[in-house]
Amino acid sequence: MKLQSRHLLGLEGVPADEISLILDTAITFREIIERPIKKVPTLRGITVLNLFYEPSTRTKISFELAEKRLSADAITFTTSTSSVKKGETLKDTVRNIEAMKINMVVVRHSSSGVPYFLTQCLDSNIINAGDGAHEHPTQALLDLFTIRQKYGHLDGLRVVLIGDVKHSRVVRSNIWGLKAMGASVAVCGPSTLLPYEVEQFGVDIYTDLEKAIDGADVVNIMRIQLERQQAGLLPSQREYTNLFGITADRLRLLNKNYTIMHPGPMNRGVEITPEVADGESSVILEQVTNGQAIRMAVLYLLSGKREEEE
Ligand code: CP
Repeated sequence: MKLQSRHLLGLEGVPADEISLILDTAITFREIIERPIKKVPTLRGITVLNLFYEPSTRTKISFELAEKRLSADAITFTTSTSSVKKGETLKDTVRNIEAMKINMVVVRHSSSGVPYFLTQCLDSNIINAGDGAHEHPTQALLDLFTIRQKYGHLDGLRVVLIGDVKHSRVVRSNIWGLKAMGASVAVCGPSTLLPYEVEQFGVDIYTDLEKAIDGADVVNIMRIQLERQQAGLLPSQREYTNLFGITADRLRLLNKNYTIMHPGPMNRGVEITPEVADGESSVILEQVTNGQAIRMAVLYLLSGKREEEE
């Protein structure tokens, strides 16, 4: 069993057996990051470029640590200190860096489709670390890993994705991954933040939070992008919180043994109360820890080192 693609651009169309392979591989790496010495020689000789055209805390540091702990040579590119500031194009930038002999590129960009574009102009393996409103596959994989870690399975669980469905790459990747793994998936948000094509996602759609979360096992709460308020898509932050905020009172509607998730960064007091974010059913920090194991697994599987070892 191996991944069919040499790139990870998204989870749409990725079959359950490939998702399971990544999740199963991550179990070993999750154990390694608990060791006193969190370093293995697995990716020695591999050079990884972290190409971040958009801000990131979790994903960037998680990939950097994953690469270091796998003994890869890691370099991180940020636009503010590069010749992008002098007008150099994306294509020229990446072709020049690849000319210095790199093997893999982890890319975050505000435009959907940039990871695919890089597959057309580079020989390196490309990993999507979030592109526009398209996909954020490693975030969804770490979400799936975290859910499976708690319940032992994903099939049959009711998972509700709440918030800005229209602009969320995390929602899209979660939908494809969860559906492939047999979960029952619902989305919930204001009608102005549901995309036109939402009915084609094959999930249950709600604009009433209490109906959406009634009987749910997992709620995964998306950050409300406050700039949407200026764009007229939200009447006010307070109204959003009143109608869609996850409060301790609303948790009574969930199934026993429910789980609270958020990909971060959080707007505490807007989409989630601090009490819920820090409550005993929250796995928000466990998601972050698991993210590193998932990224180690993805780097390992795409690098070809597994085939070499076999
Ligand atoms: N979840 C996530 O992608 O967070 P960052 O934007 O901090 O990477």
